[in-house]
Amino acid sequence: MDRGHIKELDAKYIVHTYNRYDVVVDHACGALVTDVNGKEYVDLCSGYAANSLGYQDEAWLEAVIGQLKKVQHTSNLYYSEPGPLVAEKLVKRSGLCKVWFANSGGEANEAAIKTARKYGNTLADHKKNTIISLKKSFHGRTLATVTATGLAEAQEVFAPLVPGFVHAEIDDPEELVKLADQYDPCAFLMELVQGEGGVHALDRAFVDKAVELCDSRDILFIDDEVQVGIGRSGTLFAFEQYGFKPDIVSFAKGIGAGLPIGGIICGPKTCDVLVPGDHGSTFGMNPVACAGACVVLDTMDEKFLASVNEKAALIRGELKKMKKVTGLDGLGLMIGIDLKDMTGAEAVEKLMKEGVLAIPAGSRLRLLPPLTISEDEIERALKAIRKVLD
Ligand SMILES: Cc1ncc(COP(=O)(O)O)c(C=O)c1O
Repeated sequence: MDRGHIKELDAKYIVHTYNRYDVVVDHACGALVTDVNGKEYVDLCSGYAANSLGYQDEAWLEAVIGQLKKVQHTSNLYYSEPGPLVAEKLVKRSGLCKVWFANSGGEANEAAIKTARKYGNTLADHKKNTIISLKKSFHGRTLATVTATGLAEAQEVFAPLVPGFVHAEIDDPEELVKLADQYDPCAFLMELVQGEGGVHALDRAFVDKAVELCDSRDILFIDDEVQVGIGRSGTLFAFEQYGFKPDIVSFAKGIGAGLPIGGIICGPKTCDVLVPGDHGSTFGMNPVACAGACVVLDTMDEKFLASVNEKAALIRGELKKMKKVTGLDGLGLMIGIDLKDMTGAEAVEKLMKEGVLAIPAGSRLRLLPPLTISEDEIERALKAIRKVLD
């Protein structure tokens, strides 16, 4: 089918909640995506950080296809092997206790919010159920996660939103203390590296203060690692670099390597909060997605994570030398770039012409390459980026 016809069908039959770029993807391999005209792009977006192992990773394909041939879905009425194996790996590597599986980041955060609400509402001494999230945060598109999201865009049209959410300033520990005094929250919900809000890594001192408040006032720390998690930060979880253990970690995107899967990892305070009947998801713990996720987690050993850090250092080092780059933010291979005389959105359009896929984040340019991107692919991308940013 030619690209014009695909675009026509899309325009006529798809509800337009997205503004698409003028690229019709046909196939992909490694970090390279080819459109229907045969034009190749180095993919520094990787499906919004989902394609953590790039395209056509052999071990992942083998596991997924093998599981498809065994059984594609069972429902949560029965046991199946892949889910508990993924959960065991996540628990052992996070140092937390138990996992609940969903299919997306929004759904993962919804489960985190429900867990925190039930925790706070059933506390023995007094009931508390306010959740404090951050300005410029992004937590998903369900009604509760939209409410938790701290980006001003498009919330009022969905009113009434879910009560019990308050937004704090980023990196302002004093304000956080004031809000905690005022609202007596059951949880803080934070992305340690904010994605949609501009790829900003939270200040260590701010996170330290939040953790201190959690410890002293029995507030849960929900760490939304949907975008930064599963190796992208250079450690399996970003919280490892902030030196604390959250009560709930939400994950999605990268663990699926391109298949829909998400969930929460719960610590000692939260792992037994939800009980049968409290929550569910038909496709949660789907065996095909989980068979792939096992490969993702096995691939991300120490050597692999060291290579993520090396690639991040290389790309960041080269970006810093470019004339239009005025600052870098983020962690590891989640890179936010401040630009001189150009918005992130403008840079994305220019990069696309040069054969690189990237995305904006606020006013910044955001790079989220597959974690498996090769040196050659990095060189090719940098050559194109220099044409636009140097
Ligand atoms: C930090 C964060 N949380 C939650 C979500 C929502 O994930 P999903 O689109 O899979 O529902 C996203 C998506 O970009 C995200 O970046």
